Amino acid sequence: MPETLTVTDNRTGKSYELPIVDGTVKAMDLRQIRTSADDFGLMAYDPAFTNTASCRSAITFIDGDAGILEYRGYPIEQLAEKSTYLETAFLITYGHLPTAAELQTWTDHITMHTFVHENIRKFMDGFRYDAHPMGVFVSTVAALSTFYPDAADVDNPESRELQTWRLIAKVPTIAAFTYRQSRGLPFIYPDNSLSFAANFASMLWRMSEPNYHSNPVIERALNILFILHADHEQNCSANAMRAVGSSRPDPFVSTAAAAAALYGPLHGGANEAVLRMLVEIGDKKNVPDFVKKVKAGEGRLMGFGHRVYKNYDPRAKIIKRTADEVFELTGRNPLIDIALELERYALEDEYFIARKLYPNVDFYSGIIYQALGFPVEMFPVLFAIPRTAGWVAQWREMITDNEQKIARPRQVYTGARGVDYVPIGARG
Ligand code: CMC
Repeated sequence: MPETLTVTDNRTGKSYELPIVDGTVKAMDLRQIRTSADDFGLMAYDPAFTNTASCRSAITFIDGDAGILEYRGYPIEQLAEKSTYLETAFLITYGHLPTAAELQTWTDHITMHTFVHENIRKFMDGFRYDAHPMGVFVSTVAALSTFYPDAADVDNPESRELQTWRLIAKVPTIAAFTYRQSRGLPFIYPDNSLSFAANFASMLWRMSEPNYHSNPVIERALNILFILHADHEQNCSANAMRAVGSSRPDPFVSTAAAAAALYGPLHGGANEAVLRMLVEIGDKKNVPDFVKKVKAGEGRLMGFGHRVYKNYDPRAKIIKRTADEVFELTGRNPLIDIALELERYALEDEYFIARKLYPNVDFYSGIIYQALGFPVEMFPVLFAIPRTAGWVAQWREMITDNEQKIARPRQVYTGARGVDYVPIGARG
């Protein structure tokens, strides 16, 4: 069976045979299809990239119909159960699980870079008292670019390595600072004697005690949440990381751009929106009325639906289980009952069944974050910490991919042409 596609252009009657590679045809192969020598040639039109592969990637595999998610081939369920965030970040970055020695070296590198320049603190002081932590996070990550001008050397593998450690190490510190600032609390410096998750907990919650000891259940929950959020192939923010990175700026500004993409309520801001939605519903008995409004086009059911998953998001299943473990410690978050009822009701409703809309990762994550004591504004920041490992891995893959160039889509121009300039006094 030939691995080709035969296309007939009915405008000219000509046929073309296009190679099929990995289930794709090259958009550039369409360009030869033209009506005359001066015709530009056929383009693919795909707003929002709903059916366009923008790269080859060996990092994350998703089978949306089967509800499968794997990092470098390892099922997310096994990683969530057995790995730690730092080990998973290594796996995502380098493509294999580390040996004990590799993990130790990697952990040492990350730990060495947890501190931020003192001027970062002063910079953060400039924000208004009620600044959204995600806005502060995005700006502060961008500001790292000014502290590390060496990071502009993106074609240098050693520099890429250093920026990888810096980014993964510093985002929890910045995230914790945004939290402390939003509460009016003094910043807590990193404690490099602690694990990645325990240090983050210490920077968030330590008060006057000389050493902060986090609860192992909380530490494990943070590790699981971080593992689940570490990468998700070519989503909006990964695409932003690659697109901005393709013009070759340093990775700090590209990461800030990716975090900005994550901020939106249709992406990483959805967990915040879910919490607000559950509070608005207020009681299990109000679920049917709320769903009716969604079906009538009055807003969306936040935390439901996904561009790729047309089945239960495997991350949502794991988070649901983790929530129970956290609740044993923190007490049950009453919003979980509304969420469970909403899920039950929606999954039996024809509208959601027909559109294959299932809970996604954001449906339950916010409920855990709230049980841990985080204000809703912190939720997207908590998403951004582990996703930084994914963004950096996507960026490293893009930079070294010979098929990649500056990301520059085409357009179908729909505006006016050749209009003569009219002096302002003569305009109608
Ligand atoms: N509630 C109600 N209807 C929905 C929803 C929803 N959450 N999501 C999609 N639909 C409907 C949509 O109205 C459309 O219906 P119709 O065919 O009648 O016009 C159909 O389902 C297909 O939707 P779409 O907008 O074409 O799907 P998309 O792939 O462009 O959007 C999405 C994916 C995640 C943006 C969308 O499902 C959504 O807005 N969900 C709510 C926000 C959310 O939870 N986002 C987190 C995504 S997971 C975490 C992450 O990766 O960031």
